[in-house]
Amino acid sequence: MPHTAAPRINPSILAADFVNMQRDLERIRTADFVHVDVMDNHFVPNLTFGPQMVERIQQTSPIPLDVHLMIDDPDRWAPGYAEQGAASVTFHLEAANEPVSLARRLRAIGARAGVAVKPMTPVEPLFEILDDVDQILVMTVEPGFGGQSFMPETMPKLRRLTDEARRRGSAVWLQVDGGISASTIAQAAEAGADTFVAGSAVFGAQDPATAIASLRQLAATRTH
Ligand code: DX5
Ligand code: ZN
Repeated sequence: MPHTAAPRINPSILAADFVNMQRDLERIRTADFVHVDVMDNHFVPNLTFGPQMVERIQQTSPIPLDVHLMIDDPDRWAPGYAEQGAASVTFHLEAANEPVSLARRLRAIGARAGVAVKPMTPVEPLFEILDDVDQILVMTVEPGFGGQSFMPETMPKLRRLTDEARRRGSAVWLQVDGGISASTIAQAAEAGADTFVAGSAVFGAQDPATAIASLRQLAATRTH
């Protein structure tokens, strides 16, 4: 069954210049969402920024925010990002105490609720909460750093998730994040992804807008 919507491209500002954030946000204004990686140095061995920085990005960005929380205790912290106005807030299944109630709280605030799984985490436990979330992120690298290599071994589980979502007629968005580039995006689209995070492939390109357009086109020709 073909997707009706065009594939979404969400550049990750982890690959942006942190002291030229406003300039780099302008460079990706043709993207669908800006992907904002929050890391706490506990859930992942890296540290980025927290609510104060995300609030300024929210105020500055010409496009909506897709916040990816790689943090412990999202039950406590995730709703604050939704309250700031993030379009979507994604927490990790591995870190959440009460994923269903957290997803419902995010939705009640007005954000799209997202849940993410690391490469080694199975997707089957997500089948139970499929109706309570708006998007599911299948990590295609171990979370923590940009510029890593795409893990093709995550594709069979993305395919199983796609099949289950379609069998149920779910409107959930299926997102991939990590190592997405012109040479890997088609495999992820083929396995059913419709939302693609790309950091180095966008900000490492000479012209981010051209990179966004060509990623979108490559994903569209393979999405089915
Ligand atoms: C990794 C982050 C990603 C990262 C992707 O933990 O969640 O969003 O920025 O970067 P690339 O596209 O360079 O792999
Ligand atoms: Zn991310």
